[in-house]
Amino acid sequence: MEISSTLTTQPVPDDRLAEILSNPGFGAHFTDHMFTSRWNPGEGWHAAEITPYGPLTLDPATAVFHYAQEIFEGLKAYRHPDGSVWVFRPEANAERMSRSSQRLALPELPTTDFVQAVEALVTVDQRWVPDPEGEKSLYLRPFMIATDRFLGVRPAEHVTFMVIASPAGAYFKKGPLPVTLWLTTDYTRAGRGGMGAAKTGGNYASSLVAQREASAQGCDQVVFLDAQESRYVEELGGMNIYFVYADGRIVTPELGTILEGITRSSIIELAGKMGHQVEERRVSIDEWRDGLHSGEITEVFACGTAAVVTPVGSLKWNGGATPEVSRAGEVTMKIRQALVDIQFGRADDTFGWMRRIV
Ligand SMILES: Cc1ncc(COP(=O)(O)O)c(C=O)c1O
Repeated sequence: MEISSTLTTQPVPDDRLAEILSNPGFGAHFTDHMFTSRWNPGEGWHAAEITPYGPLTLDPATAVFHYAQEIFEGLKAYRHPDGSVWVFRPEANAERMSRSSQRLALPELPTTDFVQAVEALVTVDQRWVPDPEGEKSLYLRPFMIATDRFLGVRPAEHVTFMVIASPAGAYFKKGPLPVTLWLTTDYTRAGRGGMGAAKTGGNYASSLVAQREASAQGCDQVVFLDAQESRYVEELGGMNIYFVYADGRIVTPELGTILEGITRSSIIELAGKMGHQVEERRVSIDEWRDGLHSGEITEVFACGTAAVVTPVGSLKWNGGATPEVSRAGEVTMKIRQALVDIQFGRADDTFGWMRRIV
């Protein structure tokens, strides 16, 4: 893929950048540039370019505004102790985006082009990758939208793919704190044949009322059950979930209607190598509650790119709650540490997950 570049004449000044990177928060500041490429059936993917970051001008009739034909990804670039910059498993995100493309009738972007786009943006905006203290990183947000100017429900014939980047602070300032989960019984996230496995905006739009319900109940995140029987645990609004058993087994809900998290997949490999038996299977809400009660389940944790691995403190539902856990469990912390050590270059990357960019 050939990428043209037009660099900004007004980069964020060094002193302002230092201020942003000292406390970046999440998703609030954006780098100096962005990547864009376009697709139509005649030309395929073309017009790849790096340009100054800035607003888009889109016709009010643009398809994505009306029918939500949109997909996205999320991954991070990390600065290692020697100053080099690396991304974690970008090919896995590229492949997941292709699967999302298939489900949303969008064109597939070749994995090599996805990775090249990410590399080009991180290279041009490398000063935005924070120093690793406090586990800061540069969050990358590739996304694809239907840009046909047409009011009618049909797969788009004009599509735009972009990558933007935003520095991200430590998710937990004082180390990982247990999160409280709310079990929604009114809302489901995905049904059989639906879009649950795709990373598409609609899944997040539909999770908002459930997330609002969770917040009103004093909880951090919502847990969804399966749509058919309201019995099996699927995932959280924005993370996958794992259960640790007293005999060392770790169990995570099977794929199908959930998002196949890159962190989830990485933990399957990592925990396996650490000697844990890993099971991907259905876990009922009763197994969760009874397991905590009997002591068969010793730890529960959530995982995803933003927070890596987060202990679950307790689960609340209409009329009850599991006992409060105030500290992260041993297995949870061991897995979390192993993963962040690879990401930040403090441990050997024996899986070949990291890709050097700068
Ligand atoms: C619904 C949902 N599940 C799971 C995940 C975890 O995926 P990953 O580990 O690739 O970040 C995410 C994160 O983006 C998510 O939005």
